[in-house]
Amino acid sequence: MSDLTKEINRRRTFAIISHPDAGKTTLTEKFLLYGGAINLAGSVKGKATARHAVSDWMEIEKERGISVTSSVLQFEYDGYCINILDTPGHQDFSEDTYRTLMAADSAVMVIDASKGVEPQTRKLFKVCGMRGIPIFTFINKLDRDANDTFDLLDEIEKELGITTCAINWPIGSGKAFKGVYDRESKSIVTFSDTEKGTKEGTTNIVPVADEASLVATIGQEAADKLLEEIALLDGASEEFDIEAVRNGKLTPVFFGSALTNFGVEIFLQHFLKMTTTPLPRKADIGVIDPVENNFSAFVFKIQANMNKAHRDRIAFMRICSGKFDASAEVRHVQGNKVMRLSQPQQIMADERKILDEAYAGDIIGVFDPGIFSIGDTLCAPKEKFVYDGIPTFAPEHFARVRQVDTMKRKQFLKGVEQIAQEGAIQIFQEFNTGMEEIIVGVVGMLQFEVLKYRLENEYNVEIRLETLPYEHIRWIENKDDIDISKLVGTSDMKKVKDLKGNPLLLFVNPWSIGMVLDRNKGLESSEFGRW
Ligand code: G4P
Repeated sequence: MSDLTKEINRRRTFAIISHPDAGKTTLTEKFLLYGGAINLAGSVKGKATARHAVSDWMEIEKERGISVTSSVLQFEYDGYCINILDTPGHQDFSEDTYRTLMAADSAVMVIDASKGVEPQTRKLFKVCGMRGIPIFTFINKLDRDANDTFDLLDEIEKELGITTCAINWPIGSGKAFKGVYDRESKSIVTFSDTEKGTKEGTTNIVPVADEASLVATIGQEAADKLLEEIALLDGASEEFDIEAVRNGKLTPVFFGSALTNFGVEIFLQHFLKMTTTPLPRKADIGVIDPVENNFSAFVFKIQANMNKAHRDRIAFMRICSGKFDASAEVRHVQGNKVMRLSQPQQIMADERKILDEAYAGDIIGVFDPGIFSIGDTLCAPKEKFVYDGIPTFAPEHFARVRQVDTMKRKQFLKGVEQIAQEGAIQIFQEFNTGMEEIIVGVVGMLQFEVLKYRLENEYNVEIRLETLPYEHIRWIENKDDIDISKLVGTSDMKKVKDLKGNPLLLFVNPWSIGMVLDRNKGLESSEFGRW
């Protein structure tokens, strides 16, 4: 095997998704602990500190103590090179969170055992489902009283429409949480005290067939309950099928407590074995294999304002194939230019490291003088192909935006357009009148604040936002076959167009979408647009 193949095959690139507070940050920290990348001894970092450490790029983040932007963490474990894409975990998340999932090969879904499936889990899950990537479930906080284990699995299946397969099973919860039962080895695994999670735990393994030892380890009551649950589980549950996992049809489920490190390392070990090496990706010339092809990458995120004084931007790209060599030239396909990427770096939490090389599966950030757009492809100078576009995700909040000082129209338009180009907001115009009226659509409400803040600080334009009642959007897919002006709508529908002139419909009520489709036979619509 060549060195290139070896390097690529040992990479695992995934995102962690969860509803806020389910334990994403804590689990990530514990992965780093087992990977030897951080030393937590003495103090487990609180959420506030952890979040501040992730990124302090924008004042808003500091003021509100949250992270608007996502970052990438790379560490080594057991010969694997792991890239974790961190998705901001706040309620007010943005389209960036969704786009980050476009750069991942699999996702780890963290669920709070006392809460079950929560709204944000549902939304993020939908995007993972759209890509058909493998999804692994870690049910967390078993050190607190948890919902019934069977009920939790049932809820995931019903709410998210994915089959579950428990890889291990919790023994009790709350104060009675003793460890997990590993179904493959038919053994229980108990954990030693990890001093509130500050050090790696050690494990004790007992086969359930050895009933005397089982009872001696977890007590008669817990042993009886466990044996009964195992019988039920083995009778009722889905067979493990790695193909179904790879296609995102079946989610392997694990239990544990990120806070106390119980079950974290077992999860990591199983997960690394089951998840995929960097996946091939579709381009206009066919599927690009990560190992067989020369360097290629696509831009999935643009972060403005890393340094306010220079108004600089960093373009984040996911390497899809081959090796990136900082000294070699690459082709920016959309810009039709061959160039050397400027200051390629790995952005890890609050530190940046200049890179000489990177491989398929890795994420790099490069200095962007304003030439890159989301979805752009980079490849070897002699090649020319483009990766399939990244979807633009349906905004759920809309507002009409006006500048307060009418003399500043030009700066206002420039600012709004640039911020939209970075993907922080989507902008729409009235279908007939054009740019006089600008409607902004966002995935999370916080983006309105970011927009206001950035226009004031970077473009010196004060704006007024008037929120609109629309919550649903549909792009018209077959716009050439449809006469938009003759479309029969509903009273709560509004026709608008995006920056490229594509027609869209906004709705207040979800049921109006069906009504409009009914009233206009042949109309094809989609929740997603394309960059
Ligand atoms: P998030 O990134 O998904 O938003 O969640 P985060 O890891 O920040 O965890 C949210 C809260 O839940 C934190 O408590 C954290 O300590 C706690 N937590 C995480 N995993 C576990 C677990 O396995 N068991 C228990 N009992 N708690 C867990 P906090 O009080 O909000 O913050 P902190 O100041 O204690 O860090």
